[in-house]
Amino acid sequence: MAETGGGGGGGGTVRVSVDVGMEPAAAFAALLEGLADGLARRGIRFEGGPQGRVLQGEAEVGRVVAWQPGERAALEWRPAPWRPGDAAQLELRAEPAGGGGGGGGEGEGGARLTVELRGLDAVVGDAGELTGWFASEVASALVTATSPAALGDWVTDRQARRPSGARSRAVYQDPVYHRPNFAVILQELALTPADYLVEVGCGGGALLHDALASGCRAAAVDHSPDMVRLARERNAAAVAAGRLEIQEASAERLPFPDDSFSCAAMTGVLGFLPDPVAVLAEMRRVLRHGGRLVVLGSDPELRDTPAAPEPMASRLRFYDDQELEALGRAAGLGSVRVVRRDLAPYARGVGIPEEHLVLFEGAGSRFLLARKD
Ligand SMILES: C[S@@+](CC[C@H](N)C(=O)[O-])C[C@H]1O[C@@H](n2cnc3c(N)ncnc32)[C@H](O)[C@@H]1O
Repeated sequence: MAETGGGGGGGGTVRVSVDVGMEPAAAFAALLEGLADGLARRGIRFEGGPQGRVLQGEAEVGRVVAWQPGERAALEWRPAPWRPGDAAQLELRAEPAGGGGGGGGEGEGGARLTVELRGLDAVVGDAGELTGWFASEVASALVTATSPAALGDWVTDRQARRPSGARSRAVYQDPVYHRPNFAVILQELALTPADYLVEVGCGGGALLHDALASGCRAAAVDHSPDMVRLARERNAAAVAAGRLEIQEASAERLPFPDDSFSCAAMTGVLGFLPDPVAVLAEMRRVLRHGGRLVVLGSDPELRDTPAAPEPMASRLRFYDDQELEALGRAAGLGSVRVVRRDLAPYARGVGIPEEHLVLFEGAGSRFLLARKD
């Protein structure tokens, strides 16, 4: 729901709300988290709390004036520093969603989340200007965000390409359906306490946790802040002991010096990379001479299966044996080969429910094995 008020010259109020099937305090917490996350990606920092503020670059553009945990936050909002006298009011609130109206949140336990901006008329101009701004900036953003391309990208990012939010945190805390891949990678790497492993796209840090049991040291990157936090929590003891460092960084620019690691791993990431050769070349750069690399492939047979459903499938790149091998060679790696591993025995071994073992049967999954010569 999105509305503007202020006809006849008063107010200039924009109100956007959504009804969700969540308890209001939990919904409010999710609103604050998601808003801060979305603003951060657009270069705006939202700091909640009674002394909270909103910063765009160095400039304070908003300041919390009322803070009711779990219910409501009101901010003085200064959208137009060139008109210092004209502040607007921004309010975020969660209320029990009463009956009626559309959406999925009516009835017991539902919440109505509302973001309301008041006082924009003075800043934006007369009714015609306010209407023009609302149509081109607010309504078009809402319609664009719900277009197939944008929604598909959002779901892909949220769940896999840059996971975020409570649901993804729960999944990647223990990604049980990825464990067969982890088991193959660990078997191929055969880690010892002398090893220093780098993992690219570590998600919630479950593979790192298993790898560290060998006594090795490790470092990892992921470009999702949520995943970096989760991976650090999951491996807190190793981080505290100085055996593991996890950084928020891009696979394309690994924040490590040349020739650092004895081995490298990447799983569940390759298909999302726009330039996989550049990433493999980065992994090669940070490997020591003789260092070994194991990367899970992105198998064409998985397209449109539970491992790669839409909308992910059409955003993933898939590689057959020759293509996967070619990526490794183009990255300058040596001893490149592609192996197939039957995941079914590993799936059984890591406790995948019997009725789901069928997902791991077939010709086997591809792994790229290589060395830095
Ligand atoms: C499908 S998840 C797999 C996570 C973990 N490896 C596992 O198997 O459970 C893909 C992960 O790679 C990360 N990722 C994808 N592209 C990346 C990039 N270009 N740089 C850094 N991390 C990336 C995502 O943030 C996400 O955590």
